[in-house]
Amino acid sequence: MEQFPALNGLSVSYAVLIYPSGSVNPVHTHPRSAELLFLVQGSLDVGFVDTKNKLYTQTLQTGDIFVFPKGLVHFQYNADAKNPAIAISAFGSANAGTVSLPNTLFNSTIDDSALALSFKTDVATIQKLKSGLKG
Ligand SMILES: *[C@@H]1O[C@H](CO)[C@@H](O)[C@H](O)[C@H]1NC(C)=O
Repeated sequence: MEQFPALNGLSVSYAVLIYPSGSVNPVHTHPRSAELLFLVQGSLDVGFVDTKNKLYTQTLQTGDIFVFPKGLVHFQYNADAKNPAIAISAFGSANAGTVSLPNTLFNSTIDDSALALSFKTDVATIQKLKSGLKG
């Protein structure tokens, strides 16, 4: 909807996704919609984690589809060293929203000590994770 305001109120949208070889779409969630991904070109490792921490993964080939349930943490990874992958993802919302976990957790202003306790680690480790995400 940000790019195409005519979608406002219509509960549909899609995104065209291009994955250079070796690239990852970092772990993220869409709070307002499931995602139906159609792989147009290349191959793509995809996965999501359910509410019991069970991982569901698949290596998609051109023409395959995969669905990520609403709100669950998921990722896409193009493990091919040479070829890009291209996908189209449909959403049942004009504004599915994206919560990127690396950015949400380590590129926000959440207190380092709170994060260290949350991840059962030390502040230095948290700062190291944060330093890799600074713009
Ligand atoms: C981290 O946040 C800054 C400021 O909001 C932004 O410019 C940068 O792109 C973010 N880093 C990543 C990896 O997205």
